[in-house]
Amino acid sequence: MKLPPAIISQELVVFEKVFNESAKSHVSLLDTIMRYIVKRKGKQLRPMFVLLSAKLCGPITDATYRAASLVELLHTATLVHDDVVDESYERRGFFSINALWKNKVAVLVGDYLLSKGLLLSLNNDDFEILKILSEAVKQMSEGELLQIEKARNLNLSEAVYFEIIRNKTASLLAAGCGAGAWSATKDPLQTEKMRQFGEWVGLAFQIKDDLFDYGNEDIGKPTGNDIKEKKLTLPIIYTLNTCSRPLKKELIYILKNDNRRKEKIEVVINAVKEHGGIGYAQKIMEEYRDKAMLLLHEFTESETRTSLEELVRYTTDRKY
Ligand code: IPE
Ligand code: IPE
Ligand code: MG
Ligand code: MG
Repeated sequence: MKLPPAIISQELVVFEKVFNESAKSHVSLLDTIMRYIVKRKGKQLRPMFVLLSAKLCGPITDATYRAASLVELLHTATLVHDDVVDESYERRGFFSINALWKNKVAVLVGDYLLSKGLLLSLNNDDFEILKILSEAVKQMSEGELLQIEKARNLNLSEAVYFEIIRNKTASLLAAGCGAGAWSATKDPLQTEKMRQFGEWVGLAFQIKDDLFDYGNEDIGKPTGNDIKEKKLTLPIIYTLNTCSRPLKKELIYILKNDNRRKEKIEVVINAVKEHGGIGYAQKIMEEYRDKAMLLLHEFTESETRTSLEELVRYTTDRKY
């Protein structure tokens, strides 16, 4: 599939106007950074999901555009902070904010984006949408913190992995799809249905992101970073829980003591590949993708539904 979905190309132009307007600042350093962020935009998958979720349930409204902008502002804020947390110097094919302006500035820029999102909603009395999304912001912080806690004691359970990714990633997609439905219908049942849809897409989305870490492709951000940060994701959790004792011992030693050495990271990556960890994660990802698809089929067939299906497929087939 080619992005953006043709059916919402006009709507995405309106979204971008609202987003870019919110990213402006009168403080010169902030404005320089905001222009940098606007220029190096990402795939904008979340606003696409918001717009299509709204369109599936009812007509797109002004509140839908604000919900899409709020979601992308929050997403951008968390990425700016995430790169500080992960000590990552590349984002969207260029230097991250912390690489160019250092951590101090990146922390404040993330807060600024968050506050602009809150104001966008509050100035328009979008209270329900703000409530839905604030819940996600809370969960994202909890997810990132749980991840740090578990990296310290090398937790190996799948259950904890899913709790982490449900919080740090799926919560925002879930809230975005729910907010989209709400903006078009104000119907709690439709909102909940789309929230659940977004959660499953979000889980598949993060498993895909974690799989990228094992590749050598250029995805616009570093690969091999998760192992360096002792972040245990599904491919390695599966490997550690099913491989021989000596291999498990060796891998854990590397994760604990040699996780910054490139040749040792290679050893881990190769062990995971040989052990079928990649295939396993791929399979689980496809299961979540299919759950999301099945839920969509509770809606009657339409052009919008087809576009949404294609966007789900893009989420798991994408190259970056
Ligand atoms: C990256 O999200 C962060 C994760 C939740 C894995 P995206 O891959 O959607 O980032 P951009 O916005 O397109 O750069
Ligand atoms: C997702 O986790 C980050 C957020 C949800 C903020 P990652 O740390 O894997 O995201 P990338 O790979 O840096 O984009
Ligand atoms: Mg990261
Ligand atoms: Mg990642």
